[in-house]
Amino acid sequence: MSAHSSDPSQALDTILQRHGRDPTRLLQILIAAQDIEGWLPAPLLTRIAGALALPRARVEGVAGFYSFLYTQPVGRYRVLFSDNITDRMLGNAELLDALCRKLWIEPGHTSEDGLVSVTTTSCTGLCDQGPAMLVNGRAIGQLGHRRINEIAELIRQQRPLDLWPAEYFQIDDNIRRRDALLGLDMPAGAALQAAVARGRDGWLAEMQASNLRGRGGAGFATAVKWASAKNAPGTPKVIVCNADEGEPGTFKDRVLLNSFADLVFEGMSLAAWAVGASQGFLYLRGEYRYLRPQLEAVLARRRAAGLLGQSILGQAGFDFDIDIHLGAGAYVCGEESALIESLEGKRGTPRIRPPFPVTKGYLGRPTVVNNVETLAKTCLIALGGGEAFAATGTAQSAGTKLLSISGDCASPGIYEYPFGVPISRILEDCGASDTQAVQVGGASGICLAGYEFHRRIAYEDVPTAGAFMIFDGTRDLFDVARAFVHFFAHESCGFCTPCRVGTSLLKGFMDKLADGHGAQADLADIDWLDRLLKNASHCGLGSAAPNPVIDTLQKFRPAYERRLVSLDFEPAFDLDAALAEARQLTGRDDGGAHLKTHEEEEK
Ligand SMILES: Cc1cc2nc3c(=O)[nH]c(=O)nc-3n(C[C@H](O)[C@H](O)[C@H](O)COP(=O)(O)O)c2cc1C
Ligand code: SF4
Repeated sequence: MSAHSSDPSQALDTILQRHGRDPTRLLQILIAAQDIEGWLPAPLLTRIAGALALPRARVEGVAGFYSFLYTQPVGRYRVLFSDNITDRMLGNAELLDALCRKLWIEPGHTSEDGLVSVTTTSCTGLCDQGPAMLVNGRAIGQLGHRRINEIAELIRQQRPLDLWPAEYFQIDDNIRRRDALLGLDMPAGAALQAAVARGRDGWLAEMQASNLRGRGGAGFATAVKWASAKNAPGTPKVIVCNADEGEPGTFKDRVLLNSFADLVFEGMSLAAWAVGASQGFLYLRGEYRYLRPQLEAVLARRRAAGLLGQSILGQAGFDFDIDIHLGAGAYVCGEESALIESLEGKRGTPRIRPPFPVTKGYLGRPTVVNNVETLAKTCLIALGGGEAFAATGTAQSAGTKLLSISGDCASPGIYEYPFGVPISRILEDCGASDTQAVQVGGASGICLAGYEFHRRIAYEDVPTAGAFMIFDGTRDLFDVARAFVHFFAHESCGFCTPCRVGTSLLKGFMDKLADGHGAQADLADIDWLDRLLKNASHCGLGSAAPNPVIDTLQKFRPAYERRLVSLDFEPAFDLDAALAEARQLTGRDDGGAHLKTHEEEEK
């Protein structure tokens, strides 16, 4: 499976050289070095630490942080089943079991001969064509029993991935509704030319007039962010495109990167022109690594066309280029300050703010971090003007929004709507029926019940980064919330105690309820945890973690209450069962050797 020469030492030297032995490139070096043997053996980490003059513990700390970096041997074929709730609804667990049975391995383990390991990973951004998996970083969707049988056979035969049927790796865009952005047919460079013609200040003024707000979730005014970075002291200034897209249920950035990469890169250049930035990064989530070669090709084409590099479009002093950095399976790295830490080659721990990235971001430089869709949208503003952009959508939410629609509907995929579209209209368009609930904005978003389907997608009503997961009447909303809670507990970076402990406690409560040991008191404790996480978490991951539970508890309470064995106190574990071993040892199994049940005591 190695992508490198047979001499690991030489392969590592080449990697180190390619990255200029630069410690800020540590994560990129580790990702590349892992390709040598499929994992990161201890001596390799020691060599990397030596070559970068970094403490060994720092290198190990980074390697241990990212779930796609392995410090223990894994299979030469690394199979990761996507485990979003939508994959579960499509039967991913059954398929995982089937593959493991065929390969004679335990889920979560590596086969004794080191051939294959099979486990799960968080959402891979393929919810419109799940169940999905990654095999050695390459995405395969539309899994079914036939495909799983074939994959098991290919692995057994040790067939290289390049020789697997090409249709396995075909990822569809599934664009179902186009509006201003997805309907735009723009020659590369046209938006940049229009912005350059207005001058830097004129262009920023146009952005201000547009009222564009960030599409990454928080809805911050893009022009304000750009102006702050422009006015902040320090050079070079930096533009970062946040393509981490880790929110479960979101996949619109995948489609923009796959088929509209020119708009995204042009948006980065437009930001650079306004801010006076010369350095650009696209932070690409590890799950989308398969997109990298085509993205590099687009960048090369843009360099050749004079749209990147020195004196862009003949403007002296307009120098800007873009580097692609890979993430490695950490949801928290989508948070902008964690992303910057990751770009600097560190663990993705969110920073204490202020200072904000616009004044002190990447290596202390003024840094703009924008979502993929936000940047692509700026092309529309450069071409059509700020006022025209502001005239669409609603008063507080200008323009259109891309939605990633998945779950119980006939036509999952990408839908672009002007802001203000009601939920009911979207459900009708995508062929959803008997809809019980919609989770808008991913795991950290909001769960809407039927009586709320008149509400509208807009920052002032139902804000969203783009995920729209549909659950029909057959689904159990408790299971949905529990899956999201597990996700947060898994993805908590562990930096602050309220989130590290709180997400784990919340997971414990949900598991206790699922196991039938829950009591009314647990629901009160969940409320208490919600307040703790909301008030004391260091970043948005921790404060959003209880959202799915609180929403579903409020709107679908029977899903919880039918799991309560008692409305009063119930122990966290079955004490009588725990005494079974003692009974066995003493040879006593009569009535007196058992604890009385709750009902017996009542009699
Ligand atoms: C835990 C967490 C994960 C996030 N993940 C993403 C992400 O994957 N993509 C994204 O654009 N923004 C994400 N954000 C929001 C970013 O911190 C930031 O607000 C955004 O990239 C700014 O871009 P915008 O102004 O264009 O929306 C995340 C925030 C948090 C707290
Ligand atoms: S809230 Fe959670 S994810 Fe955010 S810094 Fe604290 S531990 Fe890390």
